[in-house]
Amino acid sequence: MHVFITGIAGFLGSNLADFYLKKKFKVSGCDNLVGGSLENVDKQVNFHKVNIEDYNKLSMIMKNVDVVCHAAAYAHEGLSNFSPVMFANNNFVGSASVFTAAIKNKVKRIVYCSSMARYGSIKPPFDENDTPKPVDPYGISKLAAEKLLINLCETNKVEYNIAVPHNIIGPKQKYDDPFRNVVSIMTNLMLQNRNPIIYGDGKQKRSFSDIDDCIYCLDKLMFDKKINKQIVNIGPDENFITINELYEILSNKLQFNKNAKYYKDRPNEVKYAKCSANKARKLLNYKTNVSLDDSIQKVIDYIKINGPKKFLYNYEIELNNNLVPITWKKKLF
Ligand SMILES: NC(=O)c1ccc[n+]([C@@H]2O[C@H](COP(=O)([O-])OP(=O)(O)OC[C@H]3O[C@@H](n4cnc5c(N)ncnc54)[C@H](O)[C@@H]3O)[C@@H](O)[C@H]2O)c1
Repeated sequence: MHVFITGIAGFLGSNLADFYLKKKFKVSGCDNLVGGSLENVDKQVNFHKVNIEDYNKLSMIMKNVDVVCHAAAYAHEGLSNFSPVMFANNNFVGSASVFTAAIKNKVKRIVYCSSMARYGSIKPPFDENDTPKPVDPYGISKLAAEKLLINLCETNKVEYNIAVPHNIIGPKQKYDDPFRNVVSIMTNLMLQNRNPIIYGDGKQKRSFSDIDDCIYCLDKLMFDKKINKQIVNIGPDENFITINELYEILSNKLQFNKNAKYYKDRPNEVKYAKCSANKARKLLNYKTNVSLDDSIQKVIDYIKINGPKKFLYNYEIELNNNLVPITWKKKLF
């Protein structure tokens, strides 16, 4: 079996690649290395440094592939408010290119990693049957890419599934990026003995998912013959915690004594974001195997082993106006 993973140098893509290498599958993939790292990519992977927006190159490298998992994205929901062109190109044009190259190369199935941002700020828990109302360019472009996938696959008779993961945490996740991943940003700051930063009152709530609990669900969406044309939330609907509670958990684990610093909340940030896991339980036999506590510990161990790092501001802010959080404007991380 031959799988092709876009974003294979990133967090989800590289963990999925490791999973299939263990199963002795042939694994190929591409990444432009803007948000991922070559260190994440196992030597057995047939790796291509290719931007997904480059349709011609993508068509060339996606030969003799059975299933494609499209996981490449600039996974920075908050930043998308200020760089809409970058996100439209990355999520919509890039996805169009991936889907078209896959169909041209006659793959059997395409699995797209969407995002809970597709739902916007509707009433939680977000259900797959709810009407999505995305509130930012990231969610809008993810949802548009979903619709494009459905359209292209229906027309060309290709199997597809759409995964809707949320707040995944675990090893190989970038932790020196100021634009995403509250658990790793806070851990990286605390391990440098610096005050963690919280936007708004810290009462916004999230359910964090462990990477291992995400991977086996993705595998079913990729290879279970009975599961086709499905949109499925992936991750727990238990342990819905506030960012203040997350800060407490990390402080206790790291025996950290400094207070968090609070800054103005970010535009369009959804206050209560939780996906229902009912469909995943029924269809994928989803179960939260890794507790929140253990999952957070895995993040801490990973950052400790690799060492805390200075934050890098790799992305262009297209609309550098007074709505941009001061943390990014003044590079406070
Ligand atoms: N991590 C989460 O909590 C989460 C939640 C919901 C959805 N997702 C989705 O899952 C997917 C994977 O996310 P992740 O957490 O692994 O992010 P990540 O940043 O770790 O990995 C994404 C990878 O895609 C690559 N990439 C981005 N744009 C590219 C381009 N134009 N061409 C080639 N490569 C490109 C990046 O370099 C990076 O290595 C994304 O689609 C993301 O939207 C992630």
